[in-house]
Amino acid sequence: MSVKGKIVLITGSGDGIGRAIASAFAAEGARLMLCDLNPDTLNRTAKEMKELGAEDVLAVQYNASKPEDIDMVCAKMIEHYGDVDVLVNNVGIAGPTAPVHEIKLEDWDATFAVDVRGTFQMIKNCAPYMMKKKEGKIVSMSSMSGLHSLVNRTPYAAAKMAVIGITRTVAMELGAYNINVNCVCPANIQNERGTLIMQRQAEQEGVTVDEILQRKLGTYCLKRRVPMEDVAQMVLFLSDDERSHSITGADFPVSCGAYV
Ligand SMILES: NC(=O)c1ccc[n+]([C@@H]2O[C@H](COP(=O)([O-])OP(=O)(O)OC[C@H]3O[C@@H](n4cnc5c(N)ncnc54)[C@H](O)[C@@H]3O)[C@@H](O)[C@H]2O)c1
Repeated sequence: MSVKGKIVLITGSGDGIGRAIASAFAAEGARLMLCDLNPDTLNRTAKEMKELGAEDVLAVQYNASKPEDIDMVCAKMIEHYGDVDVLVNNVGIAGPTAPVHEIKLEDWDATFAVDVRGTFQMIKNCAPYMMKKKEGKIVSMSSMSGLHSLVNRTPYAAAKMAVIGITRTVAMELGAYNINVNCVCPANIQNERGTLIMQRQAEQEGVTVDEILQRKLGTYCLKRRVPMEDVAQMVLFLSDDERSHSITGADFPVSCGAYV
């Protein structure tokens, strides 16, 4: 199965990495189901995807922290397309930057609602359609902090470790149905959010953003940050049977060689 004409659901696809992923699939002629909290960026991206070559595009505004919204997105996708071939669980919030004893329970819950429960619920809703036809791809967004500790970001690191746990477990369950389940682990991305994260870290530690950046790059083999498009290409690779038929249950750093 190449991704041309495939029905691809991408969460958090109005902007950032999700938009880059949507662009990669659009260029291959996929049919897209886009969803995001922000209706303005979502509608702008939906229009762009048609121009880029997507065979069809449906865009629905939702909040990934609300279970009823996730059900609504899946119901609209089935109403419009009748099926799903590829699920890309991209959406994830950064959560608070603070030492563990200062983190509020509501911030922990908010991070887990989007990053963990949202990922789980999308898989739960989409898996039956893939199981029925014995074909499907699920790619979720973890992070290098799903593989390593991340000081002052306990909820986020724990959430991204949970995404790896979900990926491995679901890969075991769905392998018998010919469904590949993988996740991608980006390091700090060259986008607005990647910069915002470093700003928060700098404020927390009372140092400059450049000091944080240099410290990070010191642990990256390639001494540069990761462009969003490189993450998108990895997601595309893991969604295309002609490229990654035998890969499942795995987590892939796209990290310029962070922490090797
Ligand atoms: N940016 C980085 O440095 C980085 C690094 C590693 C992993 N990641 C992961 O990659 C994924 C995408 O990151 P990004 O940098 O594109 O993030 P981003 O903050 O730019 O957000 C992407 C999109 O998610 C949407 N969104 C936010 N909260 C939402 C909600 N509750 N419901 C629905 N949509 C919502 C936003 O409106 C936005 O369009 C996330 O899972 C993130 O944890 C990012």
